[in-house]
Amino acid sequence: MTVGTPVKLIVGNWKMNGLTPALEEAHALGQMIEAEPVKARVGLCPPATLIAQMAWKLRGSAVELGGQDCHDKDSGAFTGSVSAPMLADAGARLVILGHSERREGFGETDADVAAKVEAALRAGLEPIICVGESLETREAGDAVAFVTGQVRASLPDSLKDRAFAVAYEPIWAIGTGLTPTLEQIGEVHAAIRAALVERLGDGGRQAPILYGGSMKPDNAADILAVADVGGGLVGGASLKAADFIRILKAA
Ligand code: 13P
Repeated sequence: MTVGTPVKLIVGNWKMNGLTPALEEAHALGQMIEAEPVKARVGLCPPATLIAQMAWKLRGSAVELGGQDCHDKDSGAFTGSVSAPMLADAGARLVILGHSERREGFGETDADVAAKVEAALRAGLEPIICVGESLETREAGDAVAFVTGQVRASLPDSLKDRAFAVAYEPIWAIGTGLTPTLEQIGEVHAAIRAALVERLGDGGRQAPILYGGSMKPDNAADILAVADVGGGLVGGASLKAADFIRILKAA
């Protein structure tokens, strides 16, 4: 790393995986990092049910915790939902918003995502806003236009002077073992950067743009070296401390 190189942000997304025994994995990760610090800024987003206990397990550790979604209201009659202040209260600093599994499985629109980003900012959380194209869109040659459209529509103006990240996660690369070429990743990340600057001015220059989708110990170093890749959003390979630490060390 040279002087002025921004620290990579690498975040594990456990999705709907993890019961109480999984806290030991988080604890093991915390201990590995304490024994041998990594250059990256590290986040873990377990299921909401584990955040408070994980915060306790990882007290004093450099690992930051996050939620995987939040409601756009702070409180109220919304049975089953978790609000941004609740995540912050449980010990979260980050929150993943607009993941394709929420957009596709729960019908979340860009406008819904933007409203959730506002809620996250009100609660002092740092949102990680996900975008990414389907295989059909990529094969039609529309990936860059689609993804930059999502960026423009999912980011509220209020992000201007706030800390946030964008995650580029091609839907067809998630959980499949497939990844775009490094050139394709570079092309999309450069386009996202341009869209961020166009949308937010100088505020759009600093935000890390993470890559997500089958990031593994074996491909992390190459992907993280691509221009404008500011880190990673890691699903399956973040569930075991022994795998995740290898990705963190690649940064
Ligand atoms: P995988 O790393 O399991 O492909 O998941 C990526 C992802 O969706 C992270 O948010």
